[in-house]
Amino acid sequence: MIRLGVLISGSGSNLQAIIDAVSDGELDAEVALVVSSRPEAYGLVRAHAAGIPTMALAKEVYRDPLYADALIEAELRAARVDYVVLAGYMRKVCRPLLEAYPDRIINIHPALLPSFKGAHGILDAYNAGVKVTGVTIHFVNEEYDKGPIIAQRPVAIEEDDVLESLEEKIHSIEHRLYPQVLQLIATARVSIDQSGKVRIQ
Ligand code: GRF
Repeated sequence: MIRLGVLISGSGSNLQAIIDAVSDGELDAEVALVVSSRPEAYGLVRAHAAGIPTMALAKEVYRDPLYADALIEAELRAARVDYVVLAGYMRKVCRPLLEAYPDRIINIHPALLPSFKGAHGILDAYNAGVKVTGVTIHFVNEEYDKGPIIAQRPVAIEEDDVLESLEEKIHSIEHRLYPQVLQLIATARVSIDQSGKVRIQ
């Protein structure tokens, strides 16, 4: 069974989907630690309700991002975390974490990368008027929103969609896809080939 460290900054609905998948027996993993970049994040309430240890960092700590990541890395190591799962984590991951967890940090992005990178993937796709957007799950490397792609799902933007309805569609796909992908990782079915592409057996 793999041990996950989940990094959040906000509502934590993806964290909740992961917690639920573990308790439903759909994901062979344990959430060993939840780290929040914001002490007021609602995701911390979800973690406490599930009995998961937490760590919250005040924003002053991020004045030195290398120091913040070194603190997080030490805590993840102490919790014997195997994989780091970014779930709405609004900080850039830097060297101390990348070096400690090479090809073991996973992110979910609410658009079809490489389109609509950045912090507002849903809004940017909506405003651009594209007819299809979606969800991407990828490994994290030093290039922001550019690591090897593990899975993508398309979401159609219909004539009658407003931003809120599009957000709902994206989130409901995310909540299904993230636990599925983590289960593929937990069962060692995900690898990166020599060309840097993800292969799933
Ligand atoms: C998700 O849409 C995720 O793709 C993005 O941030 C959002 C996090 O939502 N990176 P939540 O905190 O999991 O509810």
